[in-house]
Amino acid sequence: MNETLDITITKAAQSRLTVTDFSQLPFGKVFSDHMFIAEYDNGTWSNLEVMPYGPIPMSPAISALHYGQAIFEGMKAYRQANGNISVFRPEKNFERFNKSAARMSMPEIPKEVFMQGIAALIDIDKNWIPDQDGYSLYIRPVMYATDPYLGVKASDTYTFALLTTPTGPYYSNALKVKIETEYTRADDGGVGFAKTAGNYARSLHPFAEAVKEGFDQLIWTDSVTHEYIEEAGTANLIFVIDGKLVTPSVRSTVLDGVTRDTIIQLAKKAGIPVEERRISVKEVIEGIENGSLTDAFAAGTAATVTPIGEISYLGKRYVLSDPATRTVSAGIAKTLNDIRYGLAPDEFGWNWIVQ
Ligand code: COI
Repeated sequence: MNETLDITITKAAQSRLTVTDFSQLPFGKVFSDHMFIAEYDNGTWSNLEVMPYGPIPMSPAISALHYGQAIFEGMKAYRQANGNISVFRPEKNFERFNKSAARMSMPEIPKEVFMQGIAALIDIDKNWIPDQDGYSLYIRPVMYATDPYLGVKASDTYTFALLTTPTGPYYSNALKVKIETEYTRADDGGVGFAKTAGNYARSLHPFAEAVKEGFDQLIWTDSVTHEYIEEAGTANLIFVIDGKLVTPSVRSTVLDGVTRDTIIQLAKKAGIPVEERRISVKEVIEGIENGSLTDAFAAGTAATVTPIGEISYLGKRYVLSDPATRTVSAGIAKTLNDIRYGLAPDEFGWNWIVQ
């Protein structure tokens, strides 16, 4: 990191740590004592501050609310075996954040603001990093447009915030998923590859319908034919077919997941063949039926590695092998966790140790 930025630190009068039940940590509901804020105006980022977590005053006319100019990211800080605090691959999230910003006509965030903001926030709230196995401090960067203006144009002003929330895995059980053939999450030439608020908003109604039908999540298919598998919205999808790791290739409708990329690299290193390509629904269903598909899982920062237990397609349910017998996803999940918690060598240099 180059220049050290001037970050104002305003401490919370009283920490909520002692009144927080760390045995009950549903994803994204409990926030640490502080947040980091930076403001963009006149082409520069300024007013960098770590301050008590809480409401941010805003005009009801801000364009983020009306036209959805808002992006976010997700990464995790871990307490390692030797006491170090490590954030997993934050530079990848930084790069993707700025790709999302470019697509949504928003300003880039300078690397030093992103990284030093994380370091300052983690430093002040390090006691919020849980130490239970599988737990971490989820870091949520967000940027939103703040011009109080109802004309449809890119805002001139923005707020960047970093929030942190102690959490375990997003999903606690193997997933029952439905292959969605009516609604779509993203369209060619659209914003599916960007982590922008609207992608998630448009998924909520189909997701709610699926939950009513007893599913945990959807598998989105392409918007043109509904014949090809894309992703799960909260995570990328990875299958093991004929002993190979097969995952939908990244395209304008599929998020370039950091966990997805990490798993691909770990699999290649372990000598498992990897194919990034289009995968048809037909191939997956036939693979389940003839036994060539031996593993399927969701991969994401929040989701970690979550096995898929059951897939439904056009009203028919297909039960996959017992997740407890799956060696590929379990092996990868263990290697990944060992690296994150400092229990295995970090050969790829993925852990960013917060000083
Ligand atoms: C993440 O994995 O960090 C995500 O952003 C997924 C989230 C929408 C639950």
